[in-house]
Order: sequence, then structure tokens, then C-alpha cells
Amino acid sequence: MKNGALPFRVGNASAGPDREAELRRGVAEAMAEAATGGSEHGARHVAIIMDGNGRWAKRNHVPRAVGHQRGVESVRRLVRSLEGMGLDCLTLYAFSSENWKRPDEEIADLMGLLRRFVKKDLPEFIQNGVRLKIIGDYRQLDSDIVEMLEDALERTRDGKTILAVALNYGSQQEIARAAAKAAENGEVTPESITANLDTADLPPLDLLIRTSGEVRLSNFLLWQAAYSEMYFTDVLWPDFTPEHLEAALASFANRERRFGGR
Ligand code: FPP
Repeated sequence: MKNGALPFRVGNASAGPDREAELRRGVAEAMAEAATGGSEHGARHVAIIMDGNGRWAKRNHVPRAVGHQRGVESVRRLVRSLEGMGLDCLTLYAFSSENWKRPDEEIADLMGLLRRFVKKDLPEFIQNGVRLKIIGDYRQLDSDIVEMLEDALERTRDGKTILAVALNYGSQQEIARAAAKAAENGEVTPESITANLDTADLPPLDLLIRTSGEVRLSNFLLWQAAYSEMYFTDVLWPDFTPEHLEAALASFANRERRFGGR
């Protein structure tokens, strides 16, 4: 259930024991949700390393670019299902600072997909209360993309659910930038670094998912993942559905998080 929504229907209230039971259930549900941060699973912020587009293409005997196109379809499905997931923020690793090492043609394909995705889906973001956020050094991208993104940031700024997209993102670079800013402003502490990360205005990271069977972080959210839970799945990114995200959230709900305590 989203923040602030009542857990039971109001108006047209029927009287009697059924109605009372309905209200009691609603209150219990609301209390449980308050204890877990607004959802049954308790996660507010999930991040995903979307991996396996190339292997999906190979497996399906289609060009690599088609794998990336299908990857965007997975992104779209997930963003459309966000509201019902009870999350405040979804962060997606779309283009790393190391992805520049890929062939020019593939980089151009990925940038073309990014342009089309933002242009096509922006009205839907606005309508569905999705706030776009970019992490990473995105100002190094082509100037038309930077302009398009800044326009989208502005037009979605009142949205409640955050879709954070990592573009030209490298976690070590982000930490170095944050530490330099912290030093400039005073003391370098874990708190001052956290406050200067690109993610400073996002909720703490609860769950980090990687698809395609690879088990590594690849320079993604290294600082933010200090106490987050990890979930690795063999599903290739183009095959990843909202049901797979629900399965990951169900797994998260069963974890005991101790944050170093006991
Ligand atoms: C990894 O697959 C995926 C990427 C490098 C990019 C992820 C990008 C998308 C899903 C599309 C663009 C996203 C947006 C938001 C427009 P891979 O190519 O490394 O796959 P492989 O390891 O199987 O070769």
C-alpha cells in the first residue's frame, strides 16, 4: 500500500460484525505496514544490475541490439508495476563508466534506446507519479541526451516513486567525488561522504539484485550496499518480469537484517 493511503474503504460503510472485522483487519494491516516501512516486504529501495541482454540475444539467435531492446521492455514492465510493489525507489544500472569500452555501434544502440525510452515513456512517468533521478556523471553524455534528461528531471520532480537510472556511473568514482566534496566542506566521515553521494536524496538501499547468474557488483553502489541484502538470479534481464521482482522481495522479507549487531 502506498504512503498515506487508508488500508480500508471509506464511505458506504456497512454496519455489523462483518464491517467491524473488515475495519480490524485494516487497522492490523496498517500497523504491520507502519512497522515495515509501508509494505509487507519492508523494502523501500531496490537496485538492479540488469545483466544478460547479450546472452539472451545469443540464445534466441537475434542480434545483440535486439537483446538490449528486449531489456528496455523489461524496464518498462517493471516501471509500470512499480506503484503496486510498495517501493519508494527503484535504481537501475543502465550504463556504467566502464561500458565505454564496448564497440561504438553497441554504445550508439544503447544511447538510442535511452533516447527513445525517455521520449516515449515520459508522459507515462508524469501520469503515474514516477520521479526520474539520474546517478552517475551523465553530463558527459551527448548534449541532446543531457538536455532531454534535465527536461525529464524537471517535469517529473513532483512524482512520489523514484526511478533512479545510473548512467555513466561508477561507484568508486562516485565515492571519490563525494569524499573530495566532503573534504572541501570540512571533515571526511562516513556521514559526510554519504551526504555527498549521487544517491544522497534516496532512501537507504535495502536490496540489490543482479540477473543472469553473475555474482559480482561491477562497481555499482559499493558504498550504499554496505548493509543491503543481495539477491542473485539466473534469469536473463530480458526475461525478468514484475513476478521475478516480487519473488526477490519475498526473499528479502524472510531475511533477518542485523546491521552488524546480534
Ligand atoms: C547488460 O547486458 C546490460 C547492459 C550493459 C545495459 C543495460 C541496458 C538496458 C537494459 C537497456 C537500456 C536501459 C534503459 C533504461 C534505456 P550485457 O550486454 O552485458 O549482456 P551479456 O553479459 O549477456 O553480454
